[in-house]
Amino acid sequence: MEERIGIIMNGVTGRMGLNQHLMRSILRIREEGGVRLQDGRRLMPDPILVGRNAEKLQEISQRFGGLRWSTDLEACLADERDSVYFDSGTTGMREGNVMLAISKGKHVYCEKPLSVSTESAVRLAEAADAAGVSHGVVQDKLFLPGMRKLRRLIDAGFFGKILSVRGEFGYWVFEGDWGIPAQRPSWNYRKEEDGGIILDMFAHWRYVLDHTFGSVEAVSCMGATHIPRRVDEGGKTYECTADDAAYGTFLLEGGIVAQFNSSWVTRVYRDELFTMQVDGTEGSAVAGLRECKVQHRANTPRPVWNPDVPNPIRFRDGWAEVPDNMEFDNAFKVEWEMYLRAVGEKAAFRHDFWDGARGVQLADLALQSWSQRRWIDVPGLGKRRG
Ligand SMILES: NC(=O)c1ccc[n+]([C@@H]2O[C@H](COP(=O)([O-])OP(=O)(O)OC[C@H]3O[C@@H](n4cnc5c(N)ncnc54)[C@H](O)[C@@H]3O)[C@@H](O)[C@H]2O)c1
Repeated sequence: MEERIGIIMNGVTGRMGLNQHLMRSILRIREEGGVRLQDGRRLMPDPILVGRNAEKLQEISQRFGGLRWSTDLEACLADERDSVYFDSGTTGMREGNVMLAISKGKHVYCEKPLSVSTESAVRLAEAADAAGVSHGVVQDKLFLPGMRKLRRLIDAGFFGKILSVRGEFGYWVFEGDWGIPAQRPSWNYRKEEDGGIILDMFAHWRYVLDHTFGSVEAVSCMGATHIPRRVDEGGKTYECTADDAAYGTFLLEGGIVAQFNSSWVTRVYRDELFTMQVDGTEGSAVAGLRECKVQHRANTPRPVWNPDVPNPIRFRDGWAEVPDNMEFDNAFKVEWEMYLRAVGEKAAFRHDFWDGARGVQLADLALQSWSQRRWIDVPGLGKRRG
């Protein structure tokens, strides 16, 4: 039995909205015949593309066989045939649009960060709860193959007691001033447009840490704006007012220490753009976006410090690859399916607005830690589901 579910998609002319959400998630789900529910029904997403630029929307609509589109968000929200509102517009616009959607009784699903401040994110979570709508936030990193393999290791008890976690995220984002254009939007580097790597990435680190190792209990962070001027999409030089690198340390439940470097100003000498090393008493792992390597205590070499002789151990050779053992779907699509299933089955969704608010809270407290040059405790926020 096929049941249509109308989804108002705002922000689909942007990077994330178009590539990850429309093309790789919603259209793929349609091609595969919808999302199957427990009672045998199949939910078939029917998107309507919403944005400011009619020409761009029309082009996207035609490219994918004539999807519905509109430049009138309020009219879309007033239409009762479409029950879900999705937002991948800029972060600063989110609260206003999502609040409007909630007031019209729509179920709401959003990109991260949920909003630009903890207060704003909490307002959204409270309003969504009060309206009784299903709410969710994108937490794509959890569904990446590398992270799922890491989860598998934890569930199998591979690590013994986990001691520490070290995350390296980043790559060089070109300044745009000598021939190679920047590969990220310029608003990312302007505080006044809610840019900055701390707000962007700490929203991810919060759910990665909370859901994989244990709740974040305290944070210490130093940020930096290493590159003071960049060139924007129109070729104009602008002042960078937001942080482009962050050096954070987190204390997790159970005493685990996590350190994350997040940088748009680093050249990659790693296997992937994000890697995370986990060290435990019984074994260690290095997880990336797709791969995950392990070394058990029995395979651990015994190095002795002696810089006077050439290094006798080929350290990388002592690690083994965790096999795929299954097919991994696109991480955004996996979460879309979970969210639509929760809507269709009226079930609780674990990656909800409260979880999203906790991500914004960590970014806020990290910024506070940087400005005050001190550790900050992370207080509990909202109810955890699942
Ligand atoms: N999950 C992830 O890994 C991930 C990665 C990157 C970005 N994001 C998040 O996704 C969101 C979008 O980021 P992006 O990189 O796709 O940005 P983008 O600049 O490519 O897209 C932003 C979208 O908002 C629209 N928009 C911008 N200003 C507007 C205005 N004044 N009025 C109406 N519409 C406007 C644009 O037309 C576009 O559709 C952000 O919240 C960002 O934090 C998430």
